[in-house]
Amino acid sequence: MKKVAVIPGDGIGKEVMEAAMLILENFNLSFKYVWLEAGDEAEKKYGRALPDETLEEVRKCDAVLFGAAGETAADVIVRLRQELKTFANIRPARTFKGVPALHENVNMVIVRENTECLYRGLEFEVADGITEAVRVITREASERIVRYAFELARREGRKRVTALHKANVMRKTCGLFRQVFYQVAGEYEDIKANDYYIDAACMYMAMRPQMFDVVVTTNMFGDIISDLAAGVVGGLGLAPSANIGEKHAIFEPVHGAAFDIAGKGIANPTAMILTACMMLRHFGYPEYADRIEGAVEKAISEGKTTPDLGGELKTMEMANVVLSYVEP
Ligand code: NAI
Ligand code: MG
Repeated sequence: MKKVAVIPGDGIGKEVMEAAMLILENFNLSFKYVWLEAGDEAEKKYGRALPDETLEEVRKCDAVLFGAAGETAADVIVRLRQELKTFANIRPARTFKGVPALHENVNMVIVRENTECLYRGLEFEVADGITEAVRVITREASERIVRYAFELARREGRKRVTALHKANVMRKTCGLFRQVFYQVAGEYEDIKANDYYIDAACMYMAMRPQMFDVVVTTNMFGDIISDLAAGVVGGLGLAPSANIGEKHAIFEPVHGAAFDIAGKGIANPTAMILTACMMLRHFGYPEYADRIEGAVEKAISEGKTTPDLGGELKTMEMANVVLSYVEP
């Protein structure tokens, strides 16, 4: 039995969570769902965006399924990622038939190191008008993330892992990352390994994104290129993500609370549903994830979508169509 903390949060977070839970609860999986509060509304009610009771409960859970927070997003989701020590940020980017996008037939997963690099917060003002930031890259964290990427490739039947770096300029930090990458790659003879400089990779990503299968990179490059990848395949309504640690995992759509459309029941539930599918894969239910993703694909290709993708359905109407398309 896996315990899952369900945190809908604010704005459309609540609406897309209802849609994803409609589908999850339809299956007889050995999950226990614990509904918890966090976000702007929780702050108003309890004085804290991430109440201690929520954090305490979350620590007892195996995973968090998170909708979105509003203005308190940093206090909630960024804090949760730190508290739960999630070292890998996973962002799939794929095209769907029927969604206008810059390219067709794209299907990649970006695996981003989530704990070090320039985002360690080691920034200093060394003198008036002179600031410095320290970039930390360790063998341990690099090996952990690279191994995660190869294991993911193997598990999902993917063929190639590509490392992105800038080792020609940052010879020590990126040099270590590239060196560790090829060391680990040697253990996975069934999977191809190659590497590009991050700048060239951005151009390839924009022009020929089909070149990429699994991508592994350091924290800041990963932050930037995963947004680029999301843009290449059609944007926020479709983008799921996961944060994976040794003990805990957090699953969340990339989008936020979208207050501009909240309360109207028109939010696209796809990102949240695909996020739930990532959780199913994580807990060893790939066949359920495949079936739900197939149903999402069918709904989108038939134009049975929310208005952001050109359809006329409400959030829960689309969720019900997806549910009805799930193969028995
Ligand atoms: P956002 O992602 O909430 O929305 C950006 C734009 O995309 C909006 O026009 C919105 O209507 C549209 N959009 C997003 N998700 C959609 C969906 N599922 N279906 C249809 N349209 C969708 O980002 P924004 O507007 O910058 O932030 C709004 C609030 O959300 C802010 O308070 C911000 O702090 C918070 N936020 C929270 C995040 C999180 O909890 N992880 C991430 C990003 C923002
Ligand atoms: Mg980002």
